[in-house]
Amino acid sequence: MFRFQEDKEKVIVGTCADNENAMGMIPQEIIDQILDRIDIVEVISGYIPVKKAGRNFKANCPFHDEKTPSFVISPDKQIYHCFGCSAGGNAIRFIMEYENTGFREAIEGLAARAGVKIPDDRKPGGEGASIASKLYDINKLAADFYHNYLRSDKGKRALDYLKKRGFNSETLSKFKVGFAPEAWDSLRKHCEGKKIPVELLRKAGLTILSEKGKGDYDRFRNRIIFPIFNERGHVVGFGGRVLDDSLPKYINTPETIIYSKSNVLYGLNFSKIGIREKSCAVIVEGYMDVVMPFQYDVTNLVATSGTALTPGQVSMLKKYTGTAVMVFDSDQAGESASLRGLDVLIEKGMNVKIATLPKGEDPDSFVRNNEPGAFYGVIDNAKGLFEYKLDVLIQRLGERNIGGIVDEMLPTITKVDNAVVQSDYLRRLAERLGVHEASLRHEMGKVKPDYSYHYETEEKPDKKSYNYKNSELHLLGLAVLDKKLFLRMREELAPGEFQDSSIKKIIDVVGELFDKGEDRINPGKLLSRFQQDEPAREALVKALAKAEITQDPGKALIDCIFCVRKENKEDKLKGLTLRLKKAQESSDDAEVKKLLVEINKLHKEKVV
Ligand code: UTP
Ligand code: MN
Repeated sequence: MFRFQEDKEKVIVGTCADNENAMGMIPQEIIDQILDRIDIVEVISGYIPVKKAGRNFKANCPFHDEKTPSFVISPDKQIYHCFGCSAGGNAIRFIMEYENTGFREAIEGLAARAGVKIPDDRKPGGEGASIASKLYDINKLAADFYHNYLRSDKGKRALDYLKKRGFNSETLSKFKVGFAPEAWDSLRKHCEGKKIPVELLRKAGLTILSEKGKGDYDRFRNRIIFPIFNERGHVVGFGGRVLDDSLPKYINTPETIIYSKSNVLYGLNFSKIGIREKSCAVIVEGYMDVVMPFQYDVTNLVATSGTALTPGQVSMLKKYTGTAVMVFDSDQAGESASLRGLDVLIEKGMNVKIATLPKGEDPDSFVRNNEPGAFYGVIDNAKGLFEYKLDVLIQRLGERNIGGIVDEMLPTITKVDNAVVQSDYLRRLAERLGVHEASLRHEMGKVKPDYSYHYETEEKPDKKSYNYKNSELHLLGLAVLDKKLFLRMREELAPGEFQDSSIKKIIDVVGELFDKGEDRINPGKLLSRFQQDEPAREALVKALAKAEITQDPGKALIDCIFCVRKENKEDKLKGLTLRLKKAQESSDDAEVKKLLVEINKLHKEKVV
């Protein structure tokens, strides 16, 4: 077992593969066992089509849009890497990224495949389980509680309301719609009976600590409950609607360890199949607008739950389709918030269309009030983004306000990745406004990328880019894959000669494994020894990818060692020169002399 104590904020034990596991503690032996028994090619090919290419397998990267495959899976190393977007890792990582799940869920799925039993101490709220997994369990328990209450005698009022709105029993069961009792403590008491600590209920956002010191009270009372599922169908939060016209109409789970509203799309767990089948995702606003259309066999919708579409949500959709249709109410057309969401879609390389419903309708009412299939008619008639936005702007600003329209359109057009499409847009904009295309092109050159709407997104930690030295990275990759090369490297370079601390850390871990008698290292397993958001993880994936495309590893190793030394020398020289300049400026003659001697000496040193 390795211990990394560098990051004091999180309790990190070296065997943990991510933060969630840091608390859940699946023993490294179990993780190793699972990774030993599964094959990453088999795992990934269960999700996307892969093709053999030499010793490796190739595929179109599922994490970014591409037409020629730059996604490589290595059966030898049991890792994948995308040369296009730098995604990479082992089988666990792939599932976490692809299914948008936590470590625990990913490993549990793989364990089942591999026939490995994970020691189970996961009773709801039980000792030993990670907080996240406890919260999943508690949310499921709460969803059942609310659903059963809706089905009980006391839920008649809510059931009548839902029936009056047209929901059938099957739909209510599928979406596990529920009803929260009117009392202040129903859920809390129910959970007390199951020995669930109230602190966990509070962490799940289900109860709120009273300011009057009377303990916790239920957040959701006398409301229809929509459990919010994550992509894999686990309940991560809830939305609760009043039964009348009182306000607020909905209250929702606040941000919790497992619920971040900008990274959830309501309904995606149910609609991902439909989205794939129809090669199109329909984006609506509300819970009702997902649930009711489903009842009418419109099965490719997701809801943003009333917020603007975030880049995180678009990434989730991109795994299933490259086309999205946003459904707007007719009176919503001019809102700038909705126009903003469109830019996020374009920037992520989505083909975006906009469908507008007749006045006064939302998807929920529309499917009820129209012939079956009419909704798909609306979707099929959706306008292209370009026309839509232009129409809205002309309507809002007036046809004469050319400057205003151009100012709004150009940033959108700049975000279009495809040069042909971009050119076409420019031509059409010029035509429509009656201006020269050349002047639009000139204006476009001045447009600065506008990232202002990124405020809501937290970049995934692993997407951070570190500036590793190429030679160090390459060297690391080569050394990890071959014990002989590793030993050679260790002979040639002292640990202090590596500049990057993550690379040093990996070398420590690898050295320890080799010293313990291992002859070969399974990179997939090695990866699982680092935290998901640890820089070392990214460094290792990059390093392995570099080594992957190396023709003559032995020779490359020597070259890399030479480069590392040379770069170190250059860095030292740079540092000394800088100090020399400062010393000269402050006329510190003694220091100048000393530095000149050092610099001369260093110059004469040969790098071999
Ligand atoms: P809507 O007001 O369109 O509600 O809000 P709705 O889903 O169509 O519900 P009905 O048909 O009136 O019963 C759209 C979404 O915005 C979020 C909810 O996710 C809702 O589904 N919302 C709305 C809130 O979070 N809080 C609110 O107070 C209102
Ligand atoms: Mn509605």
